[in-house]
Amino acid sequence: MGMMPIPAEVLDVGEECRDTVILELKTGEPLSWKPGQFLMLGIPGVDEKPMAFSGGDDRRLILTVEVVGPFTEACSGLEPGDIVTVRGPYGRHFEIRGPRAVIVAGGTGVAPLVPLAEELSKRGIHVTSILGGPDAGRLPRKDDLKAFSDEFLVTTEDGSEGTKGFPTDILPDLLEEADIVYACGPEAMLESVVEICTREGVPCQVSLTRYVKCGEGVCGSCALGDGLLVCRDGPVFWAEELIGTEFGDVRRDATGAPE
Ligand SMILES: Cc1cc2nc3c(=O)[nH]c(=O)nc-3n(C[C@H](O)[C@H](O)[C@H](O)COP(=O)(O)OP(=O)(O)OC[C@H]3O[C@@H](n4cnc5c(N)ncnc54)[C@H](O)[C@@H]3O)c2cc1C
Ligand code: FES
Repeated sequence: MGMMPIPAEVLDVGEECRDTVILELKTGEPLSWKPGQFLMLGIPGVDEKPMAFSGGDDRRLILTVEVVGPFTEACSGLEPGDIVTVRGPYGRHFEIRGPRAVIVAGGTGVAPLVPLAEELSKRGIHVTSILGGPDAGRLPRKDDLKAFSDEFLVTTEDGSEGTKGFPTDILPDLLEEADIVYACGPEAMLESVVEICTREGVPCQVSLTRYVKCGEGVCGSCALGDGLLVCRDGPVFWAEELIGTEFGDVRRDATGAPE
């Protein structure tokens, strides 16, 4: 038996940066979640899609939504008072480790990392964060991630803010005292993070995305190979768990066919 969707009221829809909105929802029943887990967000008459918990608490949920297609477009058109549905929490959360953590966020991959940084800093763990984007106009949750970080660095591909390049260009310089690295973002970035951390011998957790339909390990749509399902065994994986899977290799679309 799967989890039933519960109604949630839209409290606010705010423009965060180019192509990105922040949704603030209030659920009728408390929903206890941990950073790294996700929910299935339903808009009646539109669709239901996976979104990371990106802040708030057990009744007030913050989501960071990048507008990339019909569903996320509908998210950006929601208004205060609208009713949506949520089901979850699903998946494996990040494991809290310290005393020194490094966070690597690529674009919208920042979504689950903001509440993670909040949790780490609450526990007195030293947090160094890198947020990367194409340019200064697309650095989602910059202020929030910065607020929960002891050290905060930005990279942009065009050099309009911070260091010119990718987060992984500066990551190796930050690993000397790191006890763990947490990363979420484009798969090419994650591959590079895993390679750097493996080389430097630093434990690393990455949050992956695959096409998630049921969210609860039933349909097989999010298969990663080697028997792993992103919705059930992830979306957070230890680097070494990804050896021999499709990580960095094959991606599947809605029909399950390799893209
Ligand atoms: C565990 C998990 C957490 C996620 N968290 C966030 C988040 O916090 N913020 C955010 O903006 N996005 C997040 N996503 C991605 C988000 O679900 C998709 O961007 C969204 O479903 C796109 O729908 P669309 O109709 O707007 O675009 P479409 O035109 O349908 O698709 C655009 C892109 O989104 C991907 N996508 C579409 N449907 C799904 C799906 N059911 N599962 C996975 N990918 C899909 C497609 O492969 C395609 O690359 C997450 C995905 C997963 C698996
Ligand atoms: S989405 Fe159905 S098994 Fe993961």
